[in-house]
Amino acid sequence: MDKIVIKGGERLIGEVEVSGSKNAALPIFAASLLAEGSNLFTNVPHLMDVRTIVKVLKNLGIKISEDGGTYRIDATEALGYEAPYDLVKTMRASILVLGPLVARMRRAAVSLPGGCAIGARPINLHLRGLEAMGAKIELRHGYIEAKADRLKGAQISFDTPTVTGTENLMMAATLAEGKTILQNAAMEPEVVDLADVLNKMGAKITGAGTKLIEIEGVESLEAVEHSIIPDRIEAGTLMVAAGLTRGNIRMLNCPLFHMEAVVHKLKEAGMEIESDGEGVRAVGNKRIRSVDVKTQPYPGFPTDMQAQFMVLMSLAKGLSVISETIFENRFIHVSELKRMGADIGIQGNTAVIQGVGNLSGAPVMATDLRASASLVLAGLAAAGMTEVSRVYHLDRGYEALDKKLAKLGADIKRVREPD
Ligand code: EPU
Repeated sequence: MDKIVIKGGERLIGEVEVSGSKNAALPIFAASLLAEGSNLFTNVPHLMDVRTIVKVLKNLGIKISEDGGTYRIDATEALGYEAPYDLVKTMRASILVLGPLVARMRRAAVSLPGGCAIGARPINLHLRGLEAMGAKIELRHGYIEAKADRLKGAQISFDTPTVTGTENLMMAATLAEGKTILQNAAMEPEVVDLADVLNKMGAKITGAGTKLIEIEGVESLEAVEHSIIPDRIEAGTLMVAAGLTRGNIRMLNCPLFHMEAVVHKLKEAGMEIESDGEGVRAVGNKRIRSVDVKTQPYPGFPTDMQAQFMVLMSLAKGLSVISETIFENRFIHVSELKRMGADIGIQGNTAVIQGVGNLSGAPVMATDLRASASLVLAGLAAAGMTEVSRVYHLDRGYEALDKKLAKLGADIKRVREPD
């Protein structure tokens, strides 16, 4: 197992390219199940989670070839219908094949994702929506078994906006008979990127990016070419890195237009973030000020940036309050940050952070992707050496973060540890 070793204190300076979005690539790959012909997807990030969805799709009999960040995915041939436990347990987002399989194969057996480090993460709303469209769903031996004739359009209202739930039902509805209306839908940019792909395939979707999505079902879809949008969470993580190290970085391929809430908070904390047309510059040239943050569905502040922002607040001047409203257990980074000298108290879903003058390097580990990223960030700013273990969490969702940070001047290396 690898670990990342960081000697803190270097200012980050230079240019870096933001990779394609993980959470856009995963549903778009699942959407290829719906179409006949050979899809071509570019700007795909090199990540463990992408390799997992590829395994899930290959297991269904789909032909996939890869060249750098370009994937050809062809689901023309008859497909299987099972996503097995061994794959789903390594990545919950495997559930994204459920909607497409029921729509195209009229049958699916997908292992029920278990609990997760950051919360219970039920999928009741995915299942309820498919049932409303006419699927018969049973839970058997840990699997969701779904069967349907052609799905029928339905009016579905989500109790709470769910990103992958919206994506699953939007995909299923493209091949349903009649019109589906999704109310209180997730508005995330990744939902919009998926809708763009589906519409290119011939689907009739309107309203993606708003709370009300309408899908008029069609008979069949055709393969497309599409470039995945850049990753707003990676970009936000890099911005925080600049703020923490009083750095000055320019990001290419940076989706500033998807990052309003994060950029607003970083500016409020004293950072300068400006677009120069082609790139976005993030500068942290003074001590960060404390600001309060509450995570919310898009366009609010993303839960996927909460841990990283908490590191910034740990070194800010003053007291800040961070409320996590999306997941019930997303403060797993706190105890590790405290070991590095952060002053953080937790009460329920609220963290109160008293900024300290400095952090001190320590051996740390985390059980979640964004928590791991926050520990790497803390290491960049801490005095002395930080060793972040269980790096496989980081590799699930960040493309070569250690290499990108090293290129910007961080003293960071990956060390292979014997298993
Ligand atoms: N929820 C339900 N029932 C459902 C579905 C969701 O109660 O059937 C609840 C969840 O428990 C949670 C809330 O709804 O409290 C929102 O969860 P959501 O379904 O939106 O999360 P998700 O679709 O499982 C995606 C991202 C996550 C990101 C969340 C929130 C992907 C593949 N994953 O998860 O990304 O944190 O939306 O924005 O898109 C990450 O990249 O590190 C990550 C965890």
